[in-house]
Amino acid sequence: MVKTRKPSTLCVQGARSQTSGPVVVPIVQTSTFVFEDQQHMLDSVQGKTGDHVYTRWSNPTTKSVEEKISSLEGTEDTHVVASGMAAITSAVLGLVKGGERILSSDSIYGGTLHFFNEILPQNGIQVDYADTNEVADRLSDSRGKYRLCFFETPTNPTLKIVDIKKVADAARATGTISMIDSTFGSPINQRPHLLGVDLVMHSATKYLGGHSDIIAGTISGSKETVAKVRSAAKLLGGTMDPFASFLLDRGIKTLSVRMERHNSNAEFLAERLSRDNRIKRVHYPGLPSHPQYDVARQQMDSFGGMLSVDLDTDLIGTRRFVDSLDIFLNAVSLGGVESLASIPALTTHYGIPEGMLKEAGICNSTVRLSVGIEDAADLLDDLMTALDVVG
Ligand SMILES: Cc1ncc(COP(=O)(O)O)c(C=O)c1O
Repeated sequence: MVKTRKPSTLCVQGARSQTSGPVVVPIVQTSTFVFEDQQHMLDSVQGKTGDHVYTRWSNPTTKSVEEKISSLEGTEDTHVVASGMAAITSAVLGLVKGGERILSSDSIYGGTLHFFNEILPQNGIQVDYADTNEVADRLSDSRGKYRLCFFETPTNPTLKIVDIKKVADAARATGTISMIDSTFGSPINQRPHLLGVDLVMHSATKYLGGHSDIIAGTISGSKETVAKVRSAAKLLGGTMDPFASFLLDRGIKTLSVRMERHNSNAEFLAERLSRDNRIKRVHYPGLPSHPQYDVARQQMDSFGGMLSVDLDTDLIGTRRFVDSLDIFLNAVSLGGVESLASIPALTTHYGIPEGMLKEAGICNSTVRLSVGIEDAADLLDDLMTALDVVG
C-alpha cells in the first residue's frame, strides 16, 4: 500500500526514502558526464537512458530537489532554474509564441511586469492586464483568445488574494494555460496545482531556500508542459548550479517548521499593528478585515510571513521608520529566516509609473515586512520603537 506522506515528511525525505548511499543528496559538481561509447551517449542524448549528459540540460543534484518539489506541489514534474525570473521567462517563452496573447493579473512582482512590458512585445507577445478580482471573468469573456493566464497570489507587496480555483476553472474552460506565481504562499500554505492550476512557479530564492543564500526558481506542472519549459530553459541558459541545488534541498528540509513560525509571527504582528493608530492600513490576508479573507481561508492553510503596512506619514517619515528598525534589516527580498523591511516605491516597484502603482494599492508610505522566525515579542518591540521615532 502506498501511504500518502504529509508536507513536513516530504520536506525532509521527499516521496521516497533513501534505501542506500548517503543520507544527504551529494553535490554532483560537474559540467559534463562520461559515456562508455558513442551508442550510450547517443541513447542518452535522445533521452532513452535517463542518464545525465550536460549540466545545462540536467544534473543529479538538481533532479533530486526537483522530485522533492514535485511531491510538495502534487505535480508530475518540476524544473529548477537559476532564479525566479528564469522560471518565469523560460515558462512564458517556452509556451507562448509571437502573435499570441497573455492575460495577467495587474498586481504582480515588478520584475515580471518589466519582462511583460519590455521584453515580450519585442517578441510579438502582447500582455493584457486584469484587476486581481476580475481575472476569471475576463478569461471567461475572452473566447479563448489568451494562450496563457499569469497571476500571483498573495500579491507582492499588498497581499491581495486571487481566487485560485476560479481562475483555474476559467482557464480550463477557455483552453488557456494557467500559471501562478505562488512565491508568497509557499507549498506549505497553498498547493495551487491541486486546485487546477497548470503551472506553479516559485522564486525559490525566498521561502523554499529560506536562508537568503541562493537565487533560484522552480516551475512545476504536468510532464508534458514542464518538458516544453525545460526545452526553452536549456536554450535560454538560466541553469541552476549543483551547489545551489544542494542548498535549496537543505533549505526545504526545514520549510515546514520555518513556515509555522513565519505564519504565527506575521499573524501576531498583523493583528497588533492593525490596532495601532499610527498605521493607516495593514495588508495581511489572515486579518478578517482583509477584503478577500474568505477566499484566503478557503485556499490557504495559513497566511504566510509577508505583510505590508501603510504608515500615517510621508516618504521622509517612512524612510526614517525603516532606518530606525534594528532587528528588521533594511534589505529587499523576502522569505528568509531573518526579518527584512523595504519600501516598495523605492525598491521592487521603483520606476513603475505612479498610476500603475496606485492601481496596485502601493503608496509612498507602504512598508513591506518579511517577517522572519525571530522572537515575536522582539519583532513587535522593534516596530513599536521605530514608530515612536517617526512620531
Ligand atoms: C513574487 C516574486 N516573484 C518572482 C520574483 C523573482 O525571483 P528571483 O529574484 O529569484 O529571480 C520575486 C523576487 O523578489 C518575487 O518576489
